[in-house]
Amino acid sequence: MTGGLHARGIEVRFGELVAVQQADLALAPGELVAVTGPSGAGKSSLLAALSGMIAPSAGVLSVAGQPVVGRDQAVANGIVLIPQGNALIRILTAIENVALPLVAARLVDARQRAEAALLALGLDEAADQLLEELSGGQQQRVAVARGLAERASYLLADEPTSELDALNRGRVMGLLRAEARRGAGVLVATHDPEAAALCDAELRLDEGRASWVREDRTT
Ligand SMILES: Nc1ncnc2c1ncn2[C@@H]1O[C@H](COP(=O)(O)OP(=O)(O)O)[C@@H](O)[C@H]1O
Ligand SMILES: [Mg+2]
Repeated sequence: MTGGLHARGIEVRFGELVAVQQADLALAPGELVAVTGPSGAGKSSLLAALSGMIAPSAGVLSVAGQPVVGRDQAVANGIVLIPQGNALIRILTAIENVALPLVAARLVDARQRAEAALLALGLDEAADQLLEELSGGQQQRVAVARGLAERASYLLADEPTSELDALNRGRVMGLLRAEARRGAGVLVATHDPEAAALCDAELRLDEGRASWVREDRTT
């Protein structure tokens, strides 16, 4: 695979603690890949490093063979993170939260895209409610809508179904699959075995060490 997102030897440290050790990863356009492992295994650290949110202490990230360093280059390459814990703004409405990155990118169709993303998550009626008026599960769906609305080239979703009921878990996994069909490379951190089973491949992290436990891919 020459295109796609590649990580080689990615290491994330917090002082003495090594959260991710020498992780290798390839994510092709059209693929949906799970990152699994117990709490504290390093899933969020890996996704944060891949999205330029934190600087890895070692390793190389590239897209289509070109190195990607830092947040600005990650954004320029269409790498979008749906962070764990949502990171939404409580004093804005649901639709304002979804539209914010689109407005910041000066997209003229920000509102229409935000409306479509909220509709896909079943949140059209909650669009004008303040975030703090929504349940935890609704807030998590707003965060997913925000990520979808960005139409990423590489979408990294960090435990996007952790607070959802079965219906909405299925809905979110279906939307992540649709993103892959559209041509995005999609990585989903999850500790839900059912969600992982819906993915094309599974990278397992254990105390920061990554290994492929299932790789049905032909790429
Ligand atoms: N900002 C941080 N500062 C210090 N340690 C951190 C920080 N973020 C994560 N860690 C530590 O790194 C390890 C991996 O955490 P994390 O990547 O959040 O795992 P997971 O997402 O799999 O639960 C844990 O031991 C965690 O305590
Ligand atoms: Mg995490």
